[in-house]
Amino acid sequence: MFQVTLCILKPDIVRSPHLFNEIINLILQRQFIFIKSKHLQLNRQRAEEFYREHQEKFFYSRLVHYMSCGPISCHILGRENAIQEWRSMLGPTKVYKTIFEAANTIRGQHGITDTRNCAHGSDSIEKAQREINFFFPEFDMKSISIYE
Ligand code: CMP
Repeated sequence: MFQVTLCILKPDIVRSPHLFNEIINLILQRQFIFIKSKHLQLNRQRAEEFYREHQEKFFYSRLVHYMSCGPISCHILGRENAIQEWRSMLGPTKVYKTIFEAANTIRGQHGITDTRNCAHGSDSIEKAQREINFFFPEFDMKSISIYE
């Protein structure tokens, strides 16, 4: 099924033109379409809002601080099974797990810590809709026929 998902390339990736280009090329090689893209910097309040489901977690403050420390690059990616495909390219959230299970993923190759883990991908259709709307409120999901 054709799907859309939200991809965020986090500050460490945007800061490094070489890594940024490498990851964009990997995404293109996997037959994703870039439907919309935006570079922006979250302020603390917007980062808190985006990650509100994690507000009780011990890493929340660290996460919000990191995600608002520099520019991020947000993309609506589309392809068959986009949500799962992008997450499998990313690898596990926890970078130490990539050592054993997923060295060949983006996080396995470039992740620094569980917080500084390169990139984000929506984990369900509902989350993709919320997250896309958060960064691209002008984007009409109905313009993708399956979301009518
Ligand atoms: P992301 O895919 O953006 O979604 C939630 C984020 O929380 C995750 O990537 C990590 O950046 C961060 N995160 C999740 N688990 C941990 C953890 N155990 N310690 C620190 N940060 C975490």
